[in-house]
Amino acid sequence: MERVITEDLLKEDLENLSLRPKYLKEYIGQTEVKEMMDIFIRAARNRNEALDHVLLYGPPGLGKTTLANIIANEIGVNIKVTSGPSIERSGDLAVILTSLEPGDILFIDEIHRLPRVVEEILYPAMEDFVIDIIVGRDTTSKSIRVDLPPFTLIGATTRFGDLTAPLRDRFGVVHKLEYYTNEELRQICERTASIFECEIHEDALEEIAMRSRGTPRITNRLFRRVRDFADVLNDGIISVDICKHALDKLNIDEIGLDSKDYAFLEGIIDHFSGGPVGLESIAASIGEEPTTIEDVYEPFLLQRGFIKRTPRGRVATEKAYKHLKKSHNMGLFE
Ligand SMILES: Nc1ncnc2c1ncn2[C@@H]1O[C@H](COP(=O)(O)OP(=O)(O)OP(=O)(O)O)[C@@H](O)[C@H]1O
Ligand SMILES: [Mg+2]
Repeated sequence: MERVITEDLLKEDLENLSLRPKYLKEYIGQTEVKEMMDIFIRAARNRNEALDHVLLYGPPGLGKTTLANIIANEIGVNIKVTSGPSIERSGDLAVILTSLEPGDILFIDEIHRLPRVVEEILYPAMEDFVIDIIVGRDTTSKSIRVDLPPFTLIGATTRFGDLTAPLRDRFGVVHKLEYYTNEELRQICERTASIFECEIHEDALEEIAMRSRGTPRITNRLFRRVRDFADVLNDGIISVDICKHALDKLNIDEIGLDSKDYAFLEGIIDHFSGGPVGLESIAASIGEEPTTIEDVYEPFLLQRGFIKRTPRGRVATEKAYKHLKKSHNMGLFE
């Protein structure tokens, strides 16, 4: 059993890699970011210089990792990939930095989770391409300055606000990735279907796009599940009917809210009279981690106007009541 699961995962991982666009022209949407990056990439390439450090932020699954890889591809340099929580000691980062070739890209995902001592090594590395390494112990220890090749740091984070000011200020290029429009998600789904050589109807593409919460990763995930239903029930042809059937079975509503979103919104409305309610309280009442709520569920619900953040906590909006078919005075008669 376990082996099957592992193989499945590997297969999906490989598929994910093949779905990742490799060049800017295949990267759908994010027009503004794309235009700017195109200019900076060309300038760096023409001058044969390392690109300025880039910070990409925004909700999960919008294409930060994909864009970092594209930048490396477009410039024609190596990319080393790591993440904030996986670099525990400053020595770990020193090893990575000293192994870079001139012009290489170092991609640090979840950069807001870098330990403070590690982050401090990055400051001179980013600014002057040097690091100070401490050798020896206690009284005999001394600091040695090591030169680094010019490199580009690309940092990605879902939490711009958690970055320290000194780190934030050392990025020359800072971009926020936005939720995708339904038309862009439709194109992403079309691209995915053609990579998988799947027959999919136009209205099915639109249906998947509409339920993707503005997020390409979700588009690809929904596409896969719908394809499973189509393979078993419809000779592999993805029609809008099979699409609706599959997505309804998966409890994804017509605008992409799933059972977790419902639990969260119903939690606020039913248990806290619509709010305001503190993040910790609502998280505890529905058994979720506060950080998961903040990073994964809330950004989309905020963007669509289902909740508001106030100084006293989260509030469910009129739109949430309507969408969930709730009335305000329900609590009174229960
Ligand atoms: N602009 C795009 N065009 C086409 N496909 C995209 C685009 N952006 C993302 N994707 C697809 O969505 C998937 C998720 O993107 P990616 O892993 O880059 O997200 P991310 O922002 O790094 O997310 P996280 O914050 O969770 O790390 C990719 O595998 C890719 O197939
Ligand atoms: Mg990523």
